[in-house]
Amino acid sequence: MTRGLRVGVVGATGMVGRVLLERLERSRFPIGSLLPFSSGRKQVAVSFRGRRVPAPGLSRTALLSCDLVFLVSSDEISLKYGRELARSGVWVIDDSAAFRMAADVPLIIPEVNEGALRRNKRLIAGPNCTTAGLAVALKPIHEKGTLERVRMASYQAVSGAGRQALFEFYAQARRSARALSGSNPLPAVPRLAADIFPKPIAMNLFPQIGGFGPEGDTSEELKVRREMRKLFGLAKLEVSTTAVRVPVIRGHSLAVWVQTRRAVSPATARAALKKAPGVRVWAEGRYPTPLAEGTGDPTHVARIRRSGTGSRELSMWIVSDNLLKGAALNSIQIAETLRRRGWLKPRGKGGA
Ligand SMILES: NC(=O)c1ccc[n+]([C@@H]2O[C@H](COP(=O)([O-])OP(=O)(O)OC[C@H]3O[C@@H](n4cnc5c(N)ncnc54)[C@H](OP(=O)(O)O)[C@@H]3O)[C@@H](O)[C@H]2O)c1
Repeated sequence: MTRGLRVGVVGATGMVGRVLLERLERSRFPIGSLLPFSSGRKQVAVSFRGRRVPAPGLSRTALLSCDLVFLVSSDEISLKYGRELARSGVWVIDDSAAFRMAADVPLIIPEVNEGALRRNKRLIAGPNCTTAGLAVALKPIHEKGTLERVRMASYQAVSGAGRQALFEFYAQARRSARALSGSNPLPAVPRLAADIFPKPIAMNLFPQIGGFGPEGDTSEELKVRREMRKLFGLAKLEVSTTAVRVPVIRGHSLAVWVQTRRAVSPATARAALKKAPGVRVWAEGRYPTPLAEGTGDPTHVARIRRSGTGSRELSMWIVSDNLLKGAALNSIQIAETLRRRGWLKPRGKGGA
């Protein structure tokens, strides 16, 4: 019998960490020992395969003893440990933004650019949660006509901003619900305190995800542009996004206009998407919503049509799970790829 891997999860108690553990629990991924970590601010444990496993604060020694570490905590923590772990022989899959644009770190979505993985590059970045669904849906269209320009409005769920943001949303939603329970059809919505977000999110939306850069784009909008260019190896790909936070718990939705160098008809796009891994194509007249389809593995693509504003441009509607394909599932798929290639193996005595 093959020995199991020693797997660390940094940020195991967060939104992505919880989903990652649930997913690993259900998978056949061969875990010999699981080492979950939290901030250590409270004594906590996570459930895994019928056991309660303590999730203490980080320990460098424990991390260095792992075969594989998932970093699902913060940019700061990833910057602190990512390179050191990889140099020491640990495979590191990082879902933060810390290394995505580093020239020596592969940014990977297996359906899009598995070929960019390298045996000697043990630090691997996963994409931003908005980029993930977009790239999976546009890959088959790229293969047909080569991407030239992508324009998009994204409607992004609150869980994309982490656990504290969700609690802020729920507190605001409870306050608003009380004000809406009378018979007045236009009641005054109470002033809602916002701390994590720049504006209240319950009963609201706002076009700001991250801070503003010098040209007026937010950091989220810049991430999508830069990551798309890196993932597709298209340095000049034009990408324009307006990223909007909406009062949805889970599942990012994207309205996309994609222009290709060679025209791709809606029928060709639909046929290519139907064959593509990780994609579910919806029949004309039907479409996914984040409430119903925002949780799950596939990237949902619907309303594929000519854009009406360019002969080489299509419009479409995409919904994908920011916590799964946007982070945890993508990371597990990367780990499975490393194993399939025989690169990720138990290193020492800890892996029994
Ligand atoms: N949410 C998404 O949709 C999404 C998608 C793609 C990528 N990401 C990235 O994934 C990472 C995690 O996001 P999230 O949404 O899961 O965040 P989250 O819900 O806020 O969870 C953060 C996790 O990090 C832990 N943590 C905080 N400070 C720490 C420290 N000093 N040392 C060790 N652990 C610490 C927390 O532990 P405690 O429980 O002890 O506080 C918690 O487990 C971020 O880098 C984010 O950018 C998120």
